[in-house]
Amino acid sequence: MLFLFVWETHYVYRTFIYTGMMRGGSERRFPLPLALMAFVFNCLNGYANGYHLFGAGGLYPSPWIYDPRFILGLLMFFSGMMIHVESDRRLRRLRRRHETTYAVPRGGLFELVSAPNYFGEILQWTGWAVATWSLAGLAFAVFTAANLLPRGIAHHRWYRNTYESYPEKRKAVIPFVL
Ligand SMILES: NC(=O)c1ccc[n+]([C@@H]2O[C@H](COP(=O)([O-])OP(=O)(O)OC[C@H]3O[C@@H](n4cnc5c(N)ncnc54)[C@H](OP(=O)(O)O)[C@@H]3O)[C@@H](O)[C@H]2O)c1
Repeated sequence: MLFLFVWETHYVYRTFIYTGMMRGGSERRFPLPLALMAFVFNCLNGYANGYHLFGAGGLYPSPWIYDPRFILGLLMFFSGMMIHVESDRRLRRLRRRHETTYAVPRGGLFELVSAPNYFGEILQWTGWAVATWSLAGLAFAVFTAANLLPRGIAHHRWYRNTYESYPEKRKAVIPFVL
């Protein structure tokens, strides 16, 4: 039940809070195949993680909450969540309602990387993999990185090509590394 609560903190934010607070791009279209792929991914991923937590049964004895993997994993999860929620907020403030223009994001982890929202999300699901110490959690972390790393690198390239004065030292997704 603790894991379910942790999982739901993310999905309540992403589904109800984040979408309700988005600004701009009212005429922007979102490709249907991408929405379908996201739907299929979330069905499979939700099933795999749910099956691991509940279907397989009895995997976590009570002392698991004192296990260093559980504690470290939850620290990573909530640090990652704070990073991506805060980065989402900074991106949102770059826009007025119904605008579609872009600007160079500043402040917070944007001083180190172009896509701290993606970095936070990757850290979060890596933390989930550590806390659950499961194949399902690991698969989620790997697929999140496989999705968001190339996307973050593409955003980074776009910023560099578009803004001549784009901060030289800023990396793409992982601070000081990539
Ligand atoms: N776990 C996963 O696999 C997964 C997958 C996808 C997304 N996510 C998460 O979902 C969240 C949103 O992802 P995303 O790919 O939509 O993020 P994004 O491309 O960075 O865009 C987020 C919002 O900010 C706006 N925006 C981005 N850069 C901007 C700039 N320079 N100036 C002004 N506005 C800007 C975007 O407008 P436009 O839409 O008009 O560009 C969009 O409304 C992130 O926190 C991400 O980590 C997670």
